[in-house]
Amino acid sequence: MTKPKGLENGLTNYGDRDFARYLRRSFAKSMGYTGAALDKPIVGICTSESGFNNCHRHFPEMIEAVKRGVLAAGALPVTFPVISLGEVFLSPTSMVYRNLMAMAVEEMIRAQPMDAVVLMGGCDKTVPAMLMGAISADKPAAMVVAGPMMTGRHRGERLGACTDCRRFWGSFRAGKVSAKEIEQVEGRLAVTSGTCAVMGTASTMALMAETLGMLLPGSAAIPAVHADRLRNCEETGALAARMAMTGGPRPSQVITPAAIRNAERVLLAVSGSTNAVVHMAAIAGRIGMKLDLDDFNRRSDETPVLVDLKPVGAGYMEDFHYAGGLEGVLREIAPQLETATRSITGETLAKRLARPLTDPIDRAVIREAKNPISPVGGLIALRGSLAPEGAILKRAAATEALLEHEGRAVVFTSLEDLAARIDDPELDVAADDILVLQNAGPKSPSGMPEAGYLPIPKKLAQAGVKDMVRISDARMSGTAFGTIVLHVSPEAAVGGPLSLVRTGDRIRLSASAKRIDLLVDAAALKRRRSEATSPAYQPARGYARLYNEHVTSATEGCDFDFLGPAGD
Ligand code: FES
Repeated sequence: MTKPKGLENGLTNYGDRDFARYLRRSFAKSMGYTGAALDKPIVGICTSESGFNNCHRHFPEMIEAVKRGVLAAGALPVTFPVISLGEVFLSPTSMVYRNLMAMAVEEMIRAQPMDAVVLMGGCDKTVPAMLMGAISADKPAAMVVAGPMMTGRHRGERLGACTDCRRFWGSFRAGKVSAKEIEQVEGRLAVTSGTCAVMGTASTMALMAETLGMLLPGSAAIPAVHADRLRNCEETGALAARMAMTGGPRPSQVITPAAIRNAERVLLAVSGSTNAVVHMAAIAGRIGMKLDLDDFNRRSDETPVLVDLKPVGAGYMEDFHYAGGLEGVLREIAPQLETATRSITGETLAKRLARPLTDPIDRAVIREAKNPISPVGGLIALRGSLAPEGAILKRAAATEALLEHEGRAVVFTSLEDLAARIDDPELDVAADDILVLQNAGPKSPSGMPEAGYLPIPKKLAQAGVKDMVRISDARMSGTAFGTIVLHVSPEAAVGGPLSLVRTGDRIRLSASAKRIDLLVDAAALKRRRSEATSPAYQPARGYARLYNEHVTSATEGCDFDFLGPAGD
């Protein structure tokens, strides 16, 4: 047991420790603290609220509840901000800033005087960034998440960000929804605080965080506006106070390789976001573990999809919570889990799962393993001549008939090229073609945006085409759906085979063989490579330069190459 140091953690270096202690207490007292308060163990509350983050707008209320828990358990709560990443408010994409936030989290936990920390995240990138930073700082840490939004209503149907955003936008593009109606829908998609209402990236990462053991059991899917969310905050604050007093557990004792493998199982069983594969690779990288795509595929073929939620199914996250939440999923896949893992409470997963259920599981939302939505997991990794290091396909969100498909490539060389030509009535494209987007990976100027969900060309959309095979080195929103091959690696910007595809080439996708192949002979590819002229994108200064020089590939998690396990 480590004795808490409270305000004396990491004294400022003046070359005189007593002076540093005296000065720090003096300045802390300027905030109205008594000496008795400053003698207590300190729980830092790391918050990512921001006026540019709608998902976190209820954080002030949550912070009050965390503080209440910390104080009642005898420690001193101190709030501190880190940067926030509001998914739709960042350009070119929030993904570029995940590592910046992770660095801020790591350094501020380490640099400031606290014995334990409560991490407060929710919107897509904030949860992985907080986990990555906390792992590397490795002080006792517990997490609370924002929780999902409630659904809205429009003309008698439920709406939830952001699967329904895309559905209505697709209908608007196809001329089936008027400009007046789409304006109405705009105000009805995201109607409360909290994260997107479907099994998108934020919801998936909240489930990953709970499975890893960093949340209190049962808390990942509590709706943002529910009183239970505040009770969860209070309880987490109290636990963090105890962690501050006992010195553990630390993230390195909770987020183990077994916990990461369990999280992968859950990702597959809930048919979660493709983005989670990138984030889990980055989280694994922080403990020195490499996600193996062959193991991932093996687990995918053994793990059934159990939940009927959008973007793939029918329900929303509030339904998932009331149906039994993560508990309902864990119990069904228990035989495939490594149950010696321990959460921040110290309890093993085996003990958690042995407790009797307090409420029955709603089988309309969370199926039994013997009656799954699909007998195999929602995501698979692909390899082949087009993606020698890997790519990801959400097979659960794909059109069955397109999972085995050979077609002619229609290539867009950049996002700008895509925007300029996709709706051109003269574009030479047919429904069985394969749309290919190049230069949208981590090292491209766009920084791997969620652009892999290429729009169906307008003339095809208007003719009723709903899905086509689409391939890119970009990501896709966790709320999107379609036969979409993402994260192609190596990416086009570093000269991967994706950069050599030309309109008219044949490409073959085989989900059963887990392959994506460019059917062009080696001599032609060699010639194309020798003719390549475009210089690599090299930002001149600042964070963009740091990012571009050090970001790793999608299969490695897009972390920085210098942020490996502590001690590296
Ligand atoms: Fe924050 Fe979707 S915009 S979770």
